Amino acid sequence: MEEFRGRTAVITGGGGGIGRGMAVAFAQEGMNVVIGEIDMDAAAGTVAAVEEHGVRAIAVKNDVTSRASMEELADAAYNTFGGCHVLCNNAGVVTFKLAQDMTEADWDWVVGVDLYGVIYGIQAFLPRMVAAGEGGHIVNTASIAGLVAPATPGISSYSTAKYGVVGISEALALDLAPHNIGVSVLCPGGVRSRIVEAGRNRPDEYGGPEIAPIDPLRSTLPGESVPQEMLEPEDLAAKVLRSIRENNLYVVSHPETQPAVEARFQAILDAYDRIPS
Ligand SMILES: NC(=O)c1ccc[n+]([C@@H]2O[C@H](COP(=O)([O-])OP(=O)(O)OC[C@H]3O[C@@H](n4cnc5c(N)ncnc54)[C@H](O)[C@@H]3O)[C@@H](O)[C@H]2O)c1
Repeated sequence: MEEFRGRTAVITGGGGGIGRGMAVAFAQEGMNVVIGEIDMDAAAGTVAAVEEHGVRAIAVKNDVTSRASMEELADAAYNTFGGCHVLCNNAGVVTFKLAQDMTEADWDWVVGVDLYGVIYGIQAFLPRMVAAGEGGHIVNTASIAGLVAPATPGISSYSTAKYGVVGISEALALDLAPHNIGVSVLCPGGVRSRIVEAGRNRPDEYGGPEIAPIDPLRSTLPGESVPQEMLEPEDLAAKVLRSIRENNLYVVSHPETQPAVEARFQAILDAYDRIPS
């Protein structure tokens, strides 16, 4: 996709961090923006930042764990702006707990937001985007945790969901290629945001707000055998714009995570050497 001006971007979890960075970057390119958010105060902040660039923006109360809520988000985008050209399935949460300590609600919440949120986004928007025949792009926010095994214990649910987001993105790219709809999956390392306080917006049906004391050292996301620089959201957003223009499937951010990715794939390749001949 090369033409951004006058087209529409929809971003779940667009109230903060990476979502807000993408919203502003799209606005700078002349796109109208729809922010789906569970936190309407945060969404209002992004709408104001987007409007400074002379484009239109709306905030829609949204919970990505609800199929109905995602349909309402799609209705809002199509009713207000007549379409969706870039869909960013970005909302995400994390909880730092050992697998053996995870409750049913913990699993449901993390997998519900991080994986089902992407699935419901696809279900709600893709039929309309394909039917419109205008092409477009899907941006799914995974993580470096979707490419490599955790470097720290306590993020089994996050890994589960993010590996799923990488998998679904790879499959989508094939399904959508004939429709001129590209796919990018974001696999960043640390980006400055409020992700480690994700429990602030944990709905009551998933156990309610969780203000877990998180050791900042453990708040670093996986793939980090060496410390990472924290990237600013606008720097990641610039990579997203480029990946949409060039239709790049994988978007990575931190060179220091490369050895961990190589080690994982080498371990898989090594397993082939052990196949009895
Ligand atoms: N920050 C990082 O270091 C990092 C690294 C890799 C991947 N990610 C991923 O980036 C994405 C964005 O996270 P962020 O780092 O900007 O964190 P963030 O907490 O600043 O932003 C996430 C946003 O999602 C919203 N949200 C939470 N639950 C929701 C729900 N059920 N429905 C709709 N919105 C909901 C929150 O209100 C918040 O505004 C996530 O998918 C996260 O897993 C972040």
